[in-house]
Amino acid sequence: MQPLPAKSASVSLCDDPVTDLELLIKKISPDKVFVLTDEQTYRYCLPLIKDVPSITDDRTMTIRSGDDFKNIEALSSVWRFLSDKGASRHSLLINLGGGMPCDLGGFAAATYKRGIPFVNLPTTLLAMVDASVGGKTGINFNGFKNEIGVFRLAEMVLIHIQFLETLDRENLLSGYAEMLKHALIDKSETLEKLMIMGPSDITAKGLSGLVAESVLVKDRYVENDPRESGIRKALNLGHTIGHAFESLSMKKGKPVLHGYAVAWGIVAELQLAGEKLKFPSAVREKVERYITDMYGHHNFNESDFDDLYALMKHDKKNKGERINFTLLAGVGKPVIDVDCSRDEIFRAIGVRNSDTTTN
Ligand code: GLY
Repeated sequence: MQPLPAKSASVSLCDDPVTDLELLIKKISPDKVFVLTDEQTYRYCLPLIKDVPSITDDRTMTIRSGDDFKNIEALSSVWRFLSDKGASRHSLLINLGGGMPCDLGGFAAATYKRGIPFVNLPTTLLAMVDASVGGKTGINFNGFKNEIGVFRLAEMVLIHIQFLETLDRENLLSGYAEMLKHALIDKSETLEKLMIMGPSDITAKGLSGLVAESVLVKDRYVENDPRESGIRKALNLGHTIGHAFESLSMKKGKPVLHGYAVAWGIVAELQLAGEKLKFPSAVREKVERYITDMYGHHNFNESDFDDLYALMKHDKKNKGERINFTLLAGVGKPVIDVDCSRDEIFRAIGVRNSDTTTN
């Protein structure tokens, strides 16, 4: 186990998940250990930790995979499982999975008997650099993403990079979008390092050094503002428009991966940043080109704009009628709570590079 110098939470890189989990469980000393997996991680990742003696089949629960199932029914099934199996306040829940099991399992643990400890063992790039770190837990509700939830930190986040070998290209790219976001709110050097990576470089091996760096960018923002009353909102870059893309795609029955929606959201929000905060156009064009090459372009058209706008109005980060954006005055210079008009937003969504491909 190699602890990262994170200040907001305990995060470690882990080469040998069996040994590291055994050590961690010994330290936490729970009365029972429960594991939450989804269909994917049950199949591909659980085998890598099943030799931990306190992990047993009868205390391992599997929920359906995918953000569609990050809902109250799945949450209730986890509460019921814990209750039926006699979990106490001194039991431990290990969330083995991507953003969905980490968010939902974290919320289940945070609320069961008013809170039991949990460990996140993220298995996707998205969960390693974002969802498993920083204490946001929750579920989707009433058609809105992460509508219900609480802040609660995991006892430990254990990052085993080799889990990335179980991921397909789209899921690797989805997580990479959050790394691009972290680089944009960090510094030009970090961004340049990411933008020289082509699709074939984005592999478990190629990413090993960059994942820790990305986690530490997030950690800096979370440490300064754990409850997101101020500068943590920088981490929402690309997400105000990105979440609307994601939610509308889901409503239309054509879900897109979170990171793809965020990547398209970053492109649109860099347009806004250029217009409102004079974000340098040369950098904007470079990032746009990179994102378009890697993720294509969103395929919403003008007939969708009102629906997207309505979704943005519901964003939990808004205050009153305003839609609150995090924009950039430059790389590493986030400006929070920027108010943008409907026309400005529509223009930003509508802009297409001349050399884009459709997705
Ligand atoms: N995913 C953004 C945050 O954790 O604040």
